Amino acid sequence: MTKTTMTVNGKPVAAETEGRTLLSAYLREGLGLTGTHIGCDTSQCGACVVHVDGKAVKSCSVFAQDVEGADVKTIEGMANPDGSLSVIQQAFQDNHGLQCGFCTPGMVMSSAALLAENANPTETEVRHYLEGNICRCTGYHNIVKAVMATSGQTVPAE
Ligand code: FES
Ligand code: FES
Repeated sequence: MTKTTMTVNGKPVAAETEGRTLLSAYLREGLGLTGTHIGCDTSQCGACVVHVDGKAVKSCSVFAQDVEGADVKTIEGMANPDGSLSVIQQAFQDNHGLQCGFCTPGMVMSSAALLAENANPTETEVRHYLEGNICRCTGYHNIVKAVMATSGQTVPAE
């Protein structure tokens, strides 16, 4: 076991890991941050997306020790300091961009990474960027609406 340290949601953290410990397991089991969901563990569903040094990363696809010293942000770090929803989280709620909510942490984290790179994405760009995130409930349209709304744009009704 090796002590693995990083910054998560602005706080320095440390937990013991084996070389095979995935970042997703480190966050959920080592730190108790269960907002990062595990839908497949095979890098397909996107439920586990977090930010590593500002980039969207499927946390089931990297070992915790490989992000030693990194700046990690999870869904628990997305709310405003007063606990209210961030703009993008509020947009998901306002646009009915979630139903069961299982995919939502990953969708929010991926969407936030997209908007950090591209503040005014087209609908096509949003759909392309979110191809790695699977949702079994919504049909995606309202998720795309939420992302577009966050950037001050609207998409036509289906
Ligand atoms: S749990 Fe990581 S992509 Fe599905
Ligand atoms: S809201 Fe249920 S999987 Fe997306």
